[in-house]
Amino acid sequence: MAKKDLVIRIGGEGGEGVVSAGDFIAAACARAGLEVYTFKTFPAEVKGGYCMYQVRTSSERVYNQGDTYDVFCAFNGEAYELNKHLLVPGSVMVYDGPGGDFEPEIPEGVIAYPIPMTKTALALKSKRSKNMVALGALSALFNISEATLKEVLTLKFKKKGEDILNFNLGAFDEGKKLAQALEKVDEFRVADARTPDDVIIISGNDACGMGAILGGLEFFSAYPITPATEIAKFVATHIPKKAGTLLQAEDEIASIAQLLGASYAGKKSMTATSGPGLALMSEMLGMATMSETPCMLVDVQRGGPSTGMPTKHEQSDLFIAIHGGHGDSPRIVLSVEDVNDCVNMSVDALNLAEQYQCPVILLSDGSLAFSTQTIPAPKKENFKIVNRRKWDCKGEYKRYELTGDNISPMADPGTPGAQHIATGLEHNEKGSPSWDIHNRDLQMDKRYNKLSTVIENYHDTEIDGEGEADLGIITWGSTIGVAREAVERMRAEGMKVKGFYPKLMWPMPVEQYEAFAKTCKKILVPEVNYLGQLSHFIRAETSIDPISYPICQGLPFTPSQIIAKSKEVL
Ligand code: COA
Repeated sequence: MAKKDLVIRIGGEGGEGVVSAGDFIAAACARAGLEVYTFKTFPAEVKGGYCMYQVRTSSERVYNQGDTYDVFCAFNGEAYELNKHLLVPGSVMVYDGPGGDFEPEIPEGVIAYPIPMTKTALALKSKRSKNMVALGALSALFNISEATLKEVLTLKFKKKGEDILNFNLGAFDEGKKLAQALEKVDEFRVADARTPDDVIIISGNDACGMGAILGGLEFFSAYPITPATEIAKFVATHIPKKAGTLLQAEDEIASIAQLLGASYAGKKSMTATSGPGLALMSEMLGMATMSETPCMLVDVQRGGPSTGMPTKHEQSDLFIAIHGGHGDSPRIVLSVEDVNDCVNMSVDALNLAEQYQCPVILLSDGSLAFSTQTIPAPKKENFKIVNRRKWDCKGEYKRYELTGDNISPMADPGTPGAQHIATGLEHNEKGSPSWDIHNRDLQMDKRYNKLSTVIENYHDTEIDGEGEADLGIITWGSTIGVAREAVERMRAEGMKVKGFYPKLMWPMPVEQYEAFAKTCKKILVPEVNYLGQLSHFIRAETSIDPISYPICQGLPFTPSQIIAKSKEVL
């Protein structure tokens, strides 16, 4: 398959401005009308440690960060050491030299461009601008529009002061001159600019915040945790314009407790956290189930257990999202594939919480949280907003009335005639505590059966491919984007492969899984966790016996990994 994309990876130390340089390239490519998918990984320390940013750009849609890089820009020796095994004939390295902290060995066939980044920045008396020297060089070498890059870096640095902007623009020009003095011997270049579609470039976390605002969010209950904090930051900026409220609590337990209070009071409410926070919130999620209080929670998964690998990618919260907590506590669990889903499915999650009056957990992950992608500009008028069923103030009010669809009308506190006891205790239709055996059966059935229509109402599982296949790939979350490309590449080689990409994780659409599996000789389930959590649910809930393919190293899959495993199992 002819290569249509370009992957640039920048590696350096936290504090050297790797992230800014990558962000500027991504923004410039998006402004040039190109598709962009970025991936970044950095340590938990604020300064120091290896930091990597990868930009994949193309004139066609890209679904993941790519297999490896075409161009590697090494800011220091550590980054070089960690990435040199990926230097293959034809690939390009731009590195800090001479005068950097390392002297690379250039393998045969690899094209290397030395740019004295540190030396130049020091000569300009602004060590901070080393990343801008690199950016100027990358712009000149790989056709990244200088004008657009300067536009985006001006937007960022102007806020920091005229002097900071000027020394950075100066460093950019120096980097450009250094690159122009070299002979370009590779063929890599960013695709030519084209008229941009109506798109925006946004990170997964910001997109969750944007979806929540578009979904009519009225109350956000915040408690910061990596890698979810930016969701609250986005909402904090935008919710006041909608007359809504963001309130930061003292910990995760208080955070979800105040969410339930606001939701009980009639406000569309959510919170966002990561694995350790979700663990702390599990008791209150049970309260939301029992009290039938709408509750939307975004869980941005990270490497666990405990504090684990806070800035690293993992998809290991499926067990806790679906069954975390004591007793039988039904809930809805969704998972996003990409940044576009982060917008759309945040709206869906708020809607489902309101419609079914229960907890809805939206699973994102560490790679998507910080990944910036170009997505169609969301339009408010395209979103359907669902609000909870309200009491019509007629007849006797029963908070947990046994209705035909098991969803009971809610009344805001203070509504005349709607007095009831609000508690986490088992209750009768009026809300009064009850240990009656028959009532227990009725209320348990009510809480489970009201979710029986979720599968038919939420059609978001996608089947990629038709007819019979030798291999079916089932996966979830951001691994879907990687599987899409793997499936496409294997088909191009003549292999019979299909994909099944669920977004509704719970209740599990068992019939859809089984119908898909019937058309495939073997089923492979790649996912980024140790145990193969989705495989586990597939075995428990369906008649399928999949081949589990879990990896758990803090990084997302690459398409090549899935292709290699597929060939092995076939
Ligand atoms: N001139 C002036 N300022 C510059 C600059 C330049 N040439 N290049 C970068 N900067 C600024 C950036 O604007 C940014 O400031 P801001 O926060 O005000 O925007 C800052 O320097 C850091 O640069 P950036 O490029 O964003 O990051 P980096 O590549 O140096 O990497 C981080 C550092 C961000 C990854 C790291 O510091 C960090 O925060 N790690 C995560 C820690 C964490 O979350 N831990 C969780 C534990 S639970």
